[in-house]
Amino acid sequence: MKLLQLTDIHLTKPGDTIAGREPNENFRKALHHATRHHPDAEAVVITGDLSDWGDREDYLRLKTEIAACPLPVHLCIGNHDERDIFLSVFPECADENGFVQSLVPLSEGTAILLDSWGANSHAGFYCAKRQAWLDAQLSRLSGPIYLFMHHNPVPTGVAPMDQIMLQDADAFGQIISRHKDKIRHLFHGHCHLPLTGSFHGIPFSAPRGTNHAGWPDFDNERNLSASDLPESYAVAFCGPHSVMVHMVEYGYEGQIRREGSPDYAEWDRLTMVR
Ligand SMILES: [Fe+2]
Ligand SMILES: [Fe+2]
Repeated sequence: MKLLQLTDIHLTKPGDTIAGREPNENFRKALHHATRHHPDAEAVVITGDLSDWGDREDYLRLKTEIAACPLPVHLCIGNHDERDIFLSVFPECADENGFVQSLVPLSEGTAILLDSWGANSHAGFYCAKRQAWLDAQLSRLSGPIYLFMHHNPVPTGVAPMDQIMLQDADAFGQIISRHKDKIRHLFHGHCHLPLTGSFHGIPFSAPRGTNHAGWPDFDNERNLSASDLPESYAVAFCGPHSVMVHMVEYGYEGQIRREGSPDYAEWDRLTMVR
């Protein structure tokens, strides 16, 4: 089973750029790349920061792009989104409490999409109501379960980034650790950095994002740091006992070479072409 994660698409007024890149163009390019190379993906999940400033026009454009995409696309919101405006365009994404949370049935298990949005803050939140909802879903469902959310529950070690991580990480961690035998992987975004690690023994990963790129500047205590590294999305191969996640840097414009002989027995130091 193959799952795709796009994150931090930051759609904005067409023609406007963020860090010299046009987010609408980049998003279309990512979807096109994903569709061409992974037509067999069961689901594409976009893990938040859908719009750069929560503008309704961005969500309307997103809806049109998704409708034209041959793959099923599912959405989380991030700190740059506005929940009410988002839900005015995507009312079907609300759970029974009005949060942007949903379950996506997969051929092997279920994806649970979480809402870590909080008003007037770039940090992430997971309140008691959302915690109760997640606990109920995790109790009811059998595994494997794949969690998708915007904010990182684990500090990155980059101080300004960690000020806006998931603030309720302890309570969130207690819930998922109770159900960790069912949870195969957690996918997040927000940091614009390729990240991987584990939280209460549950593996997580994040790709860089489809537009502007971060940089792990451990010495900068005050500002987030940016770079011009390539735009990317993630491809996850989910087996009965394993998950393999690639970060595909579809914005890379350099050469891709085919090396040596396909017969590894022919490899030697004189004839091998690299
Ligand atoms: Fe973002
Ligand atoms: Fe974010």
